[in-house]
Amino acid sequence: MDFNLTEEQLMIRDAARDFAQTELLPGVIERDEKQQFPAEQIKKMGELGFLGMMVDPQYGGSGLDTVSYVLAMEEISKIDASASVVMSVNNSLVCWGLEKYGSEAQKQKYLVPLAKGEIIGAFCLSEPEAGSDATSQKTTAIDKGDYYLVNGTKNWITNGNNASVYLVIAQTDVEKGHKGINALILEKGMEGFEIGSKENKLGIRGSDTHSLMFTDVKVPKENRIGEDGFGFKFAMKTLAGGRIGIASQALGIASGAYELALKYSKERKAFGKEISKHQAIAFKLADMATQIEAARMLCMKAAWEKDQHLNYDLSGAMAKLYAADMAMNVTVEAVQIHGGYGFVKEYHVERLMRDAKITQIYEGTSEIQKIVISRSILSD
Ligand code: CAA
Ligand code: FAD
Repeated sequence: MDFNLTEEQLMIRDAARDFAQTELLPGVIERDEKQQFPAEQIKKMGELGFLGMMVDPQYGGSGLDTVSYVLAMEEISKIDASASVVMSVNNSLVCWGLEKYGSEAQKQKYLVPLAKGEIIGAFCLSEPEAGSDATSQKTTAIDKGDYYLVNGTKNWITNGNNASVYLVIAQTDVEKGHKGINALILEKGMEGFEIGSKENKLGIRGSDTHSLMFTDVKVPKENRIGEDGFGFKFAMKTLAGGRIGIASQALGIASGAYELALKYSKERKAFGKEISKHQAIAFKLADMATQIEAARMLCMKAAWEKDQHLNYDLSGAMAKLYAADMAMNVTVEAVQIHGGYGFVKEYHVERLMRDAKITQIYEGTSEIQKIVISRSILSD
């Protein structure tokens, strides 16, 4: 077992750390307050190769491993989780799904600009009445010969307004249940494709979350990903990797809050000494550091399994479950260590605490991760 990172992995981690400090930190509080999408910063992330990290260079990507991706996600998420969710969706859900299952023509047309970060993508599974219960798709994609006619509504779509390409999951044949679901590539601007208003959120407020409405959208047959009826499996397989991305996001949010709390605890004095010298605070920091390290190991294990072409459904779900719950706990403690200062925006930890909450909800709630994990461990 080798816990050492390679030179290349260290270089990626440091590049992401530098980028986060110099490009994301200035303005992060203001973007959160104004719910402003980090458009300029995302463009630069694309230029640096952070939006197609694992994609083969022949399709415009950086050709890196998943371990490097986890390292970069942690660093970006320490500073700006609104930027890191854009990165996670584009890398893990959109680029990965297209590279793994897309046709050569789809890769040339869509994957190349997505991996280069020239455009960004969105992954559209959730609906007003189908969130956790993802097989209950109400959006329909009726087979009309050489095109699908798409009708319905998607909810909570990350990059909803800023994306150019949308991977949309829809029901073609109700009788076949989940085996009658397809994954289709839609483009912004297709006739009948409307973008709803932006959600006003508790956290990750810089990311844009929208509902999408489809009214008789004609989607050419060549935009279907994989065989007829592959759409639900496509979504599940894609989400298995996506969960590694969100686990790393949770890890980064927690380690960002921990680093701030550690620093603050060595500066702030109460009762004649630094608060870190009060055992109650020192023990909080010990718990936080231990939980963060445990989450990091789970993320790395899942990433390593993916890189080794092993099955990572279980390890990815465990990483997400643990890291999300851990991030919630650690960020609450980071606010506590800051006392009253933790409750105001300048100290960053209140934002990290609000951002942590979403990691227990999206890409499968913590309860859904427990379903995935329990089914896996009980299956033999
Ligand atoms: N790989 C391949 N196939 C899989 C699979 C996987 N990881 N997981 C399930 N399947 C297959 C099953 O084998 C089954 O197919 P067969 O009948 O051919 O065997 C089919 O999918 C249906 O599976 P289940 O019977 O297990 O379905 P279920 O109704 O019990 O639900 C679930 C399973 C795991 C709960 C699933 O519905 C789920 O993951 N729900 C959560 C949805 C989710 O994560 N949404 C996230 C949206 S994206 C997002 O949120 C982005 C963002 O935040 C930024
Ligand atoms: P529900 O499924 O209604 O769940 C409500 C509660 O019931 C939860 O606590 C849940 O865990 C619990 N529950 C449900 N079923 C069970 C069960 N069987 N056993 C135990 N407990 C259960 N979706 C996309 O497709 N693409 C995106 O880009 C995207 N981005 C998002 C961004 C944000 C900011 C948000 C808030 C959501 C996003 N989502 C996205 C949607 C997200 O994936 C769903 O919100 C999530 O899957 C939960 O679905 P739901 O909101 O319908 O909750």
